[in-house]
Amino acid sequence: MPDTPPPGPGPTEWNPHKIGVGPWDEQHPGRARPTGPEWDPQLLDEGDRRNVVDAYRYMTREAITADIDTRRHPLHIAIENFDNDSNIGTVVRTANAFAVDTVHIVGRKRWNRRGAMVTDRYQHLLHHDSVAALAGWCAGRDLPVVAIDNTPGCVPLETVELPRRCLLLFGQEGPGVTEQGQQAAVMTCSIAQFGSTRSINAGVAAGIAMHTWIRQHADLSRAW
Ligand SMILES: C[S@@+](CC[C@H](N)C(=O)[O-])C[C@H]1O[C@@H](n2cnc3c(N)ncnc32)[C@H](O)[C@@H]1O
Repeated sequence: MPDTPPPGPGPTEWNPHKIGVGPWDEQHPGRARPTGPEWDPQLLDEGDRRNVVDAYRYMTREAITADIDTRRHPLHIAIENFDNDSNIGTVVRTANAFAVDTVHIVGRKRWNRRGAMVTDRYQHLLHHDSVAALAGWCAGRDLPVVAIDNTPGCVPLETVELPRRCLLLFGQEGPGVTEQGQQAAVMTCSIAQFGSTRSINAGVAAGIAMHTWIRQHADLSRAW
């Protein structure tokens, strides 16, 4: 089951700048308020300053998630979380933007949500205690695991055809994808580098890899 998002305001509610829209009656003078369970009465009364696209203004969290569910891609993302969670928020936010099916957190359950900018509220999240548990979950669904790392034996992400249904597995700063993670994967893909650094930030690598999948498999006519 997806984890329940934490209650209360998040970073985008603290934003002092006016983004979004004001109360419905101010925005749409003379137009009847929409009715139905997908509309949030408080947002209609007070305005909607959340970090959501305009198509979702005034809608409840549940209604937004349900709408994304009708368009989610058969792409799963997993990130190992054994000792460093600083990139997970970025990964979740990018996964939300690309309508990823589920983000899997492997290892420690807790992670720093600040970088997610509240996008985790609309993203299915699943926790697994270990890489073995994640691998078992994928095996039960015939979902191939593709590790993303620049380790010996990897193939270039720039030239590989990613499976349409797959889970992309990312490692952490320092150790990279664990040995168990690489063993569970049908292949490991590297992102080409040309400078001096051994690797790029895991959140950036996740964005590049997700977008590679999008370029290969998404229906771009359905993007916002
Ligand atoms: C900062 S890297 C550390 C591991 C790296 N193998 C090393 O030797 O330093 C953390 C994670 O970001 C991703 N990553 C960073 N650079 C990458 C690259 N050039 N190709 C593929 N993945 C990369 C991988 O998922 C990796 O596990």
